[in-house]
Amino acid sequence: MGGPKNVNSAVTSFKHLFSPLDLRGLEIRNRILSTGHQTYLAQGGLVGDDFIAYHEARARGGAGLIVVEAARFHESTLSDSPEIVVSSDDCIPGYRRLAAAVHRHGARIFGQLSHSGRCTRRSQAGMRGVAYAPSAVPDNRFHTMPREMPADLIAEIIEAGGRAAARFAEAGLDGIEVLASHGLLFSQFLNPAVNRRTDRYGGSRENRMRALLEMLATVRRSIPGRMILGIRISAEEVESDGLDADEIEAVCRELARLKAIDYVNTTLGSMSGLGGSIHVVPPMGIDHAYVAPKAARLRQATGLPVFVAGRINQPQIAEQVLAAGQADMCGMTRALISDPEMANKARAGRPQDIRACIACNQACIGHYHAGYSISCIQNPAAGRELLLGSTAPAARPGRVLVAGGGPAGMKAAVTAAERGHKVVLCEAASRLGGQALLAQMLPGRAEFGGLITNLEQELANLGVEIRLQTAVDHRLVEALAPDAVIIATGARPYLPEIEGRESAHAVDAWAAIRDEANIGSRVVIADWRCDWIGMGLAEKLALAGRHVRLAVNGLHAGQNLQMYLRDHWAAKLHRLGVEVIPYARLYGLDEGTAYFMHSVSGEAIVCEHVDTTVLALGHEPQTALESELRDMGLRTEIAGDCLSPRSAEEAVYEGMLAGRMV
Ligand SMILES: Cc1cc2nc3c(=O)[nH]c(=O)nc-3n(C[C@H](O)[C@H](O)[C@H](O)COP(=O)(O)O)c2cc1C
Ligand code: SF4
Repeated sequence: MGGPKNVNSAVTSFKHLFSPLDLRGLEIRNRILSTGHQTYLAQGGLVGDDFIAYHEARARGGAGLIVVEAARFHESTLSDSPEIVVSSDDCIPGYRRLAAAVHRHGARIFGQLSHSGRCTRRSQAGMRGVAYAPSAVPDNRFHTMPREMPADLIAEIIEAGGRAAARFAEAGLDGIEVLASHGLLFSQFLNPAVNRRTDRYGGSRENRMRALLEMLATVRRSIPGRMILGIRISAEEVESDGLDADEIEAVCRELARLKAIDYVNTTLGSMSGLGGSIHVVPPMGIDHAYVAPKAARLRQATGLPVFVAGRINQPQIAEQVLAAGQADMCGMTRALISDPEMANKARAGRPQDIRACIACNQACIGHYHAGYSISCIQNPAAGRELLLGSTAPAARPGRVLVAGGGPAGMKAAVTAAERGHKVVLCEAASRLGGQALLAQMLPGRAEFGGLITNLEQELANLGVEIRLQTAVDHRLVEALAPDAVIIATGARPYLPEIEGRESAHAVDAWAAIRDEANIGSRVVIADWRCDWIGMGLAEKLALAGRHVRLAVNGLHAGQNLQMYLRDHWAAKLHRLGVEVIPYARLYGLDEGTAYFMHSVSGEAIVCEHVDTTVLALGHEPQTALESELRDMGLRTEIAGDCLSPRSAEEAVYEGMLAGRMV
């Protein structure tokens, strides 16, 4: 199993990771950085209790520096989304409480100033607002044609940046980071393909840097000398009209020469297009610490402290980056979302206990794009610290039987055991993991197995008794006489009546993933879920040399996936020549043909020359145990796919709730 615990085991000490960093006189206790990330925990644009509890958990867990999420500082970039707004003094009390909470635990805190320029939909009251950018050049993601910023608006934005910086200072923050990364406003100014201005803000590099330099100078003037000022910048934007590595290096060199900044925080990518966006929060399948060599180049070029983020999910990886001199701090953002105690565990010599992020992108950036506050599929308490951050001991510790060893059952067992119950976890198969065992078999998805290895470690630490190849039935329940049963028996493939299925060669998706089906050379995948299974199987079968058609019962392949993951996969399928057929609802099969209905027009979509149809038609819940135990008068809780087939996120969340209920 290729989980994230497969890191270089030769790294056993964290000498570099836990050495303090002196940032122009500001001591940061270690090299672990939580980079700016939108949480959608703001209330009315302000820092509130949930927001503070979220960051306090990471400071308490040992992070060295927390950069708070992108804050909007000028009205020309405000939208209706629940983002932090620092364009008035109303923001100061919340930030002050936040800074105090973070400082209480010995961590440092910086604020981040952001303006999106053209990279926004700017939703306002259901309509699209006007976006302003250096020039009227549209982006390729938000489909925004911005208005060129008049020079007085540039001046106004920069002045607003200075006032926002002064508010951060008044709130007691240690530093400020100006966003010039991700294709946002200041990167748009830097970019000759996007900045077509003929005034003093466009043309030569000197002119293109002017807006950023004026912003930095204004911010510097507005804050006390002790405060740190840095930028975030993409080492490369990875877009056809994006800034390349040479231009970024030249800009950073100049910023260093002018002593305009104290540090450079590097990332990759740009939100101005779908390809560049993937790198904003790189999904599973992209190498660990892949930005580090690019950070090293900027460190060499500027002589400034350089921070780096991007798939650094384990302290061993961070230690290697630091030891190689590639960066001065490691952004471990999702690593800290997934396990806020990551730093403390590493320092205590318990790296094996870290719940490593698996880069699934489901509940962190996935929630953000869906408009919900941050969480984590492995750590449901993330973003819900006030509600779920601590686990109260059971009033009367007893015996709990958990039926089903998938993510829901494993999390339920962990939570019940944490509360002091004696827990027996039974799994009918020969291994724990449920559908996660299948998910990790898809190409590039081995890391998903980390969900299982992380939970296995927690079960072992808590001494939960595990019985494999043990299906729970009423006899076992009677024999064990538990005080409560948690049913987490999962789901099986849903295979509805389909005309002609008997005569055609049709196999179910699970058998295809497990290589248990005989699959011909021309394949059609009937993908009802529009998620991992369809895209993953298409890649797997195409990699094996088959001609693959992916017929999705939705708008496009991966419709129900987080967009960076989806687009990363879409590129791979495109390269492999997979044909995607949208709006396709399966209704019949015969030997050599699969019949779909266009899900809107109702007209037939006929796929001929089909050797095998793979049925990825979703799942149905396993409810037998629930019925069997119904009349036994037992305390029961139900969690995960046996309640309703969804994803690992709901399974783990409901497992946790069930473990808290018993
Ligand atoms: C939910 C979410 C929101 C993000 N919002 C921001 C942001 O406000 N500002 C920023 O600079 N980066 C943002 N990012 C990118 C992260 O700072 C970081 O670069 C990215 O998660 C990759 O680092 P990691 O692999 O350590 O998670 C966000 C990431 C996530 C997961
Ligand atoms: S939801 Fe997935 S990607 Fe996001 S922090 Fe959790 S494990 Fe990592």
